[in-house]
Amino acid sequence: MHQDLEKVLITKEEIEAKVKEIAAELDRDYAGKQPLMLCILKGSVLFFSDIIRAMQIPLEIDFMAISSYGAGTTSGEVKLVKDLDRSIENKHVVIVEDIVDTGHTLFYLKRMLNQRHPASIKVCALLDKFERREADVVADYKAFDIANEFVVGYGLDYAQKYRNLPEIGVLKREIYEK
Ligand code: PRP
Repeated sequence: MHQDLEKVLITKEEIEAKVKEIAAELDRDYAGKQPLMLCILKGSVLFFSDIIRAMQIPLEIDFMAISSYGAGTTSGEVKLVKDLDRSIENKHVVIVEDIVDTGHTLFYLKRMLNQRHPASIKVCALLDKFERREADVVADYKAFDIANEFVVGYGLDYAQKYRNLPEIGVLKREIYEK
């Protein structure tokens, strides 16, 4: 375990097993539909690459980067940092996110993408911190529910660190309170 972690919350093996399960569900639900798998940078990059690699149906991928308008804002409005390369009109879009926290990011993102007339939009999330939800959004596919703890690893960062840890862990309080 990394020395900055208080504990491992979800092991590499648990993640692998869940990724396989969700990929099989997606294969079943999107058979014949060639979904557009949409990676929301940066946090979802590991989950995204593992999910698409485990899927067997034909699919497309694209990337989008967004950021909230500053920490602590409650408006939840998001800024588009990098848009998609191609149109999503008539496509079956699956947004792949690392974490749904307040839900504001997803709420805005779904609204923005819906204006582009996709055939459908669903959300696939690695983590759901449901206690913190403020916006009315749900993850259609979800790997793990977690409590309101400071988690890092497997894509999730603190000050851009820890994204490359193979497991998801709770960060020691002294790291983010110093
Ligand atoms: C995280 C995460 C979601 C968002 C969820 O992104 O990837 O996009 O926050 O929070 P919300 O439900 O409260 O809106 P972050 O801004 O940390 O960027 P990153 O993915 O580049 O780390």
